[in-house]
Amino acid sequence: MLFPEFIHHIIIMYLQTMKNICMLAIAAMTGIQSYAVAEKQIIRISTNQTDLVLQVAPNGRLYQTYLGEKLLHETDLEQLEWNIHPASDASVIERGWEVCSTSGNEDFFEPAWGITHSDGNPSTWLYYVSSSTKSVEGGMQTDILLRDDKYPVDVTLHYVTYPEENIIKTWSEIKHEEKKPISLFRYASTMLYFSNPSYYLTEFSGDWAKEVQMSNQQLQFGKKIIDTKLGSRAAMHAQPFFMLGLGQPVNENTGNVLMGTIGWTGNFRFTFEIDNVGNLRVIPSINPYASTYELAKGETFTTPEFIFTLSKGTGEGSRNFQRWARNYQIKDGKGSRMTLLNNWENTAFDFDESMLAELMKEAKDLGVDMFLLDDGWFGNKYSRNNDKAGLGDWDANKQKLPNGVPALIRYAKEAGVQFGIWIEPEMINPQSELMEKHPEWAIRYPNRDTYYYRNQLVLDMSNPEIQDYVYNVIDKLMTENPELAYFKWDCNSPITNIYSPYLKNRQGRLYIDHIRGVYNVMKRVSENYPKLPLMLCSGGGARCDYEALKHFTEFWCSDNTDPVERVYIQWGFSHFFPAKSMCAHVTSWNKNASIKFRTDVASMGKLGFDLGLKELTANELLYCQQAISNWKRLSTTILEGEQYRLVSPYTTQHMAVNYVNTDQTKAVLFAYDIYPRFEEKLFPVKLHGLHPNKMYQVKEINLMPGEESTLRANGKVFSGDYLMKIGLDVLGFKPLESHVIELTEQQ
Ligand code: GLA
Repeated sequence: MLFPEFIHHIIIMYLQTMKNICMLAIAAMTGIQSYAVAEKQIIRISTNQTDLVLQVAPNGRLYQTYLGEKLLHETDLEQLEWNIHPASDASVIERGWEVCSTSGNEDFFEPAWGITHSDGNPSTWLYYVSSSTKSVEGGMQTDILLRDDKYPVDVTLHYVTYPEENIIKTWSEIKHEEKKPISLFRYASTMLYFSNPSYYLTEFSGDWAKEVQMSNQQLQFGKKIIDTKLGSRAAMHAQPFFMLGLGQPVNENTGNVLMGTIGWTGNFRFTFEIDNVGNLRVIPSINPYASTYELAKGETFTTPEFIFTLSKGTGEGSRNFQRWARNYQIKDGKGSRMTLLNNWENTAFDFDESMLAELMKEAKDLGVDMFLLDDGWFGNKYSRNNDKAGLGDWDANKQKLPNGVPALIRYAKEAGVQFGIWIEPEMINPQSELMEKHPEWAIRYPNRDTYYYRNQLVLDMSNPEIQDYVYNVIDKLMTENPELAYFKWDCNSPITNIYSPYLKNRQGRLYIDHIRGVYNVMKRVSENYPKLPLMLCSGGGARCDYEALKHFTEFWCSDNTDPVERVYIQWGFSHFFPAKSMCAHVTSWNKNASIKFRTDVASMGKLGFDLGLKELTANELLYCQQAISNWKRLSTTILEGEQYRLVSPYTTQHMAVNYVNTDQTKAVLFAYDIYPRFEEKLFPVKLHGLHPNKMYQVKEINLMPGEESTLRANGKVFSGDYLMKIGLDVLGFKPLESHVIELTEQQ
């Protein structure tokens, strides 16, 4: 038995030596310095909790040698071998985890980059050239330059680490100096490798009004892909984030978990591939579907950012994301948020100036900060009285609003609230003046019947002229009405009839350049209106990514505002987003649920209302007013605090979550009974994140007027230790009941 192994070993050594000789020869010819480096060249990319370690192998290429919990001893990095994780054909030759695996290399599994050179050669081998680091806001950036030895193609890998938040953000860039364009058929943001006994994926899928439904599965050999090819309302069926249990299914408080999300508002694709020896590679990317990208000489292709955290349990991972997003990513992440009254569920398209003036008074009466006018306010030749006409014609409808937007702002001022407005600027209805003027602006086939989604088409945002037009929709409204306080920017259609009259024979760029065009506009709005809050919306929550959120203060989670469904939807989104970015409105969906239950559910997020006050009894109105004032008083804790998910609606008939402010002096506990079973055994809810030695007074708030708390703990004082180890009896048997508990440190 020893003999063949011995032969095998000799073969490997021989091949290795031959390869090294070849490599040194290539190095001498190309002048790439790192080939000659005899000692290990190690690149360490770390947060306070995580290490990603890369190594330049003797062949001059870059390999991942470690990704996991932070290593305590720098010297241990030297022990890591580039070829310690045999995969592919490692039984016959040395292999490692190439950081930027490319088409045409020796690896037999999915590459990060697929490139066809201008001479038709589909192979790229990337060699390490140099790396550098620099400080950036909140962290450290590492840039690594790789270069092909046969073609003038450079790939740069970027990593930004946020040590405190334990977040790593990574993306890549490619450019070339070949005479003719090269075509890109794969362009991953990054590629991460894992070696664990098992892998369990949690994905967030859904549909309109069913966002972020969480499901779990164990990954097996081969590929699991989560992707979308909807183009603009891209995340309608799959949200751009996932969680991966490394060695066990994901759990709230234990076990190693990777949580990742891609900042891309268009077609994305996550590939999870388990290879022949049980290693997993994770490849976040723009979806290359119908998108072979012709890249011209000197042009740079930048991938979206992939943002990830490795944590113990998903709770910690969520808090990492939430903190990081508030500190560095979302627009005005550290700022406050406005409560609002929206009119979509209340009036739909059916309103006029005097009705809106009344609603603004209602907003004031309710105690919110702003009135938000939804769809239906524009279009004249083709009035926006339903969803069949008007998109593209952004002038106020003279019949409904004879005095235009300025009058509405005046009414809002008189009422004492701010005024915000809905737009859907990337879209066009065939029945619109814009279509009459610019039929060539819509994305659609020149030679086939046009098919529609919600009676509309998508404007061709790859065309800079159309980007200007879309920017001007907002700029004109702002210039004419500088007091406009807020925009809800919607996007209700996927891209249909995928053909750009502008791109002509470069259609492979459309899905990508369209989204880049959308970003150009969003960026201009951010730059010119840095303080303007905006809601990102896409027929509910089909836009919920961290690239768009650089330009938006918040996003609309779902058109489904049934509080029972919202418990699940907000639970799902909270895995990646802070409460202040998640718009949650109280509406009339599910009237079986009391106004208290509906409001208590919305109070977990960025609180708003979308109903007519006439639907409420005097008592209910009083309740809402008090709940809004409670929410405002506690908004620093809810919006800026640490969030702990305590009881999952996926595994129980209840849900509970608590928020703790930064100095642990204040906490809020939300507890909901959904549809409890008859006489089921109830357990106290154990809080998290409190200071064990601080004493907290427990007070139930958001009670209906005249009602007393029935909780035994109400009014009592407990130590944080007690509250976290023994907990509070806040769950009950009755369906659709809720409790909101304020905990305040007692000196
Ligand atoms: C989308 C949004 C809704 C509403 C309508 C208006 O569906 O998600 O909130 O604004 O459009 O048409």
